[in-house]
Amino acid sequence: MQFGVSYYPELVPENEWAGDLDAMKENGFTVVRCAEFAWGAFELREGVYTFDWLDRFIARAASRGISVILGTPTAAVPQWMLASHPDIAVEMRDATRLPAGERRLACVNNPVYRHFSGQIAAQMAARYGQNPAVIGWQIDNELIGPEYWNLFECHCPSCRFLFREWLKKRYASLDELNRAWFLDFWSGSFGDWGEVGTPRCHRAVKGHVIDFFRFYSDSQVEYIKLQYAVLKGAVSKTQFVSHNSTGIFDRGINHRDYARALDVTGWDAYCGAASAGHCMEHPFTAAGHDLFRSALMKPFWVFETNTDDVLTAAQIAAMRAHGAKGVIFWHWRRHRGNVEQTGAALANYAGKPNKKRLAIIRDAAERLRCLPDLPAQFVKRPAAIFNCPDNVRAVHREAKRPIPRNDAFHLDAFARGYFPAWRHGVGMDVLQPGDDPAGYKLAVLPGLHCLDAKHADALANFVRNGGTLLFIAKTAHCDTHAVFYPTPGGPLAELFGFHFEDDEPNRPPCVVRMNGGADVYPVENPYEVVVNSSAEVLGVFEGGDADGRPAVLRNTFGAGQIFYIAARNNGLICEIMKTAFTAAGIAWHENPYEDVAVIPDLSDASKIWLVNHGNEPRNLLGCEVGARGFAVASFT
Ligand code: GAL
Repeated sequence: MQFGVSYYPELVPENEWAGDLDAMKENGFTVVRCAEFAWGAFELREGVYTFDWLDRFIARAASRGISVILGTPTAAVPQWMLASHPDIAVEMRDATRLPAGERRLACVNNPVYRHFSGQIAAQMAARYGQNPAVIGWQIDNELIGPEYWNLFECHCPSCRFLFREWLKKRYASLDELNRAWFLDFWSGSFGDWGEVGTPRCHRAVKGHVIDFFRFYSDSQVEYIKLQYAVLKGAVSKTQFVSHNSTGIFDRGINHRDYARALDVTGWDAYCGAASAGHCMEHPFTAAGHDLFRSALMKPFWVFETNTDDVLTAAQIAAMRAHGAKGVIFWHWRRHRGNVEQTGAALANYAGKPNKKRLAIIRDAAERLRCLPDLPAQFVKRPAAIFNCPDNVRAVHREAKRPIPRNDAFHLDAFARGYFPAWRHGVGMDVLQPGDDPAGYKLAVLPGLHCLDAKHADALANFVRNGGTLLFIAKTAHCDTHAVFYPTPGGPLAELFGFHFEDDEPNRPPCVVRMNGGADVYPVENPYEVVVNSSAEVLGVFEGGDADGRPAVLRNTFGAGQIFYIAARNNGLICEIMKTAFTAAGIAWHENPYEDVAVIPDLSDASKIWLVNHGNEPRNLLGCEVGARGFAVASFT
C-alpha cells in the first residue's frame, strides 16, 4: 500500500521544499500529489508556459525516492483567461455568472475552457509523460461543478444548446418528452425544441430536473474523457490516469460513470465530518470505498483524506480493507494565506511537522505495508447494494437547502441498508439500476422510489434464477421521471406477490410486530400500505393507516425469493437482513458493537478485518481491537 501527501510547491518558497520533502521521507511517505490548482503558475499568459519550477520540484522529490502524482491544473483558471473569456464562468439559475476568485468556476461545456484545458493537459503530458518519477495523473480536482453549495449545474448558452441536443437523442419527439415529463401540468408542454431550456426555477418540473442532472453528470464525464484522451495519447503506459471524485452523493452525480472513464478510480474520502450535509459518518465512508472499488472491480486510490483529529488508524485500515491501493493525506503544509488557511495539515504553515498526527499515520502504515498486495482485479463480494443517482435527482429541488441527508430519501435508506452489513461482516459491492446482479447471492434495494419497468424485469430474472432480493421501502412507486405508476409497485407486482395501495407521505405513527411475537418496532414516515396477493407475511403494522396490514413480506419467485420491508426502522431492517443473508447462505457475524466494522478480506477468505472506530477497546471474534484501531482476525 502506498502512502502519500498533497503538496503545493507553488505556494512554498523554493528553499523550503527540501526540508518538507526530507520530513515526508522520514515519515515514510513515498508519493507526493501536486499541481491541480497551479494553472496560473504554468501558463502565465495565453500560450506562454513555464514548467521549470515543477521540473526542479519533481527532481528533488525523485532524488529522495518520492514519486509524484500530477494533477492537471484545470480546477483553477488563471485570471487572464477569465478576463479575456468571461463567458467560461458557470451561469447560475438567476442568469448571473459565478464571480472570479473561486476555483472550479468554469463550465465544462464551454468550448473555450475545453480548448484551454486540452492545451494545458497536452503541455504537461509532453513534459512529464515519460518522467519515471511521475507515476500517475489526476484529471482536474473534485469535478463536481462549482464550489457553491448545492449547485451542480450550469445554464450557460453552451449548456442550453447541448442539453437540447442530449434530449433530442433520447426522445423520439417532443410529444414523447411532454408525456414523459408530465408537462400538461401548469401549461408546460413544449411545441418546439427551441422552447426547451434548462430548469432554472426552484420548483421546476421533476422530469426536467432529473434529465438535466443526468445531462450535466454526462457533461462532466465528457470533460474527463477529453483530458483522458489527451493524456493517454502522450504518457507512458506505466502512468495511470485517474480523477479524485468527491464523497458528495446527494447531488445526483453519477460517480460511477466518472470512474469508468478512467484507468483507475479514486476519491476524496473525508471521514466523519458532518459539514455541509454531504460528508457522512463512518458507514457511509465505507460505502464510498465500496462504490469506487466496484466501479472497475480494481484497487482504487484515496486521493485525499483528513489530517485532523478525525484521522485514526481505524479509518486508514478501513481504506485498505475495502480495496484502496494508496492513500494520500490532505495536506502536508498548512497554507500561509487565503481561504483554506485554517484547514488541518501534517505540518504547520512554516513547515514544522505535527508529530502526533504523523505518528498515527506512520504506525498504521507500518502495519499495513506488511500485508500482501491486493489482487489486480477483485472477484464479486457475495452481496451487492444498489445506489441510484436518479432517486437522488428526483428529490433534489424539493429538499431544504443544503440538503440534509435524510431528505435524500434513497440515501437515507441506503445508509440504513448498508449499516447492518458493515457491522455484521457482509462484504457488499455497489451496483446501480440497469446492472444485472447475476453472480451475487443477494442484492439490497434501498428506497428505490423511482424504478423503471426495464430494470424491474432484470430484477425479476435474477430472482427467477435463484437470487435473493431484499427491498427497503419505498419501491417503484414512480418511473424514472418521477411520475407515479397507476398502481405503485406495479412493475414488480408479480415478483413481490403484492402491490401498494397508494403513496402517502404523511401517515399517523404506528409500529411493526414481527411474527406475532414480542418484537415491536416503531417506524418512521413514510411507510407503505400493502395489498397482498400471494406473499408470506412475516410482520404486521399495528396502529396508523396500515393497522393489521403486512409490513414485512417474503415471496418465492422461480428459484429465488424476495424479502420486503415496507417501513424504516434500523432494528427491524437489521433483523430482516440477518434472516435474508442467512437464508442466502451468506455468513453473518454477530457483533454487539455499533462502532466496530467487520470486513471480510478481499483476497483471503480465511481473514476478516475488525475496525474499531470507537474510543473503547473491544473484544470481538476472539480478538482484541484497540480504540480507534484495527486487527485482522483469522479463522483457522
Ligand atoms: C477538498 C479539496 C481540497 C481542499 C480540501 C479542504 O475537497 O479537494 O483541494 O480544498 O477539500 O478540506
